Amino acid sequence: MQFKININGRSTICEAQPEDSLLEVLRRIGIYSVRSGCETGNCGVCTVWLNGTPVLSCSVPVARAEGQCVTTVEGVSEEAAALVEALSEEGADQCGYCAPGLIMAVLAMKRELSMPDEEGIAHYLNGNLCRCSGYRAQMRAIRKFLCAEK
Ligand code: FES
Repeated sequence: MQFKININGRSTICEAQPEDSLLEVLRRIGIYSVRSGCETGNCGVCTVWLNGTPVLSCSVPVARAEGQCVTTVEGVSEEAAALVEALSEEGADQCGYCAPGLIMAVLAMKRELSMPDEEGIAHYLNGNLCRCSGYRAQMRAIRKFLCAEK
């Protein structure tokens, strides 16, 4: 079957079965920033936006994205640049596997919450796991990014 999805501002026709996950389809068409992790909706590395709302693409059947707008980190690269820099400065980008999903979650949080405190940030991002950084470096980077964007 064919699905027509607006991906990062571009109308895209994807060949897929309706039950294929959005994650599988995005990677099949070459969007490798969208990472595959637990594939059970628990680790956050596959986070993308569906109509501006963060979703776990491993748990979204591609049929749900038909006619909708999907955004991956490639679609927000300018906005993400300062966050990427802050993550790097604070030593939070170790293996980097979690970074694209984390970036999509942080940028969504920035739109939803006005200057969250550490507790608010930790609560919003509790579905985005990182096996390397211990989260403190990420927290410093995210706070630095949010303060600079004020
Ligand atoms: Fe390695 Fe987060 S930096 S999983």
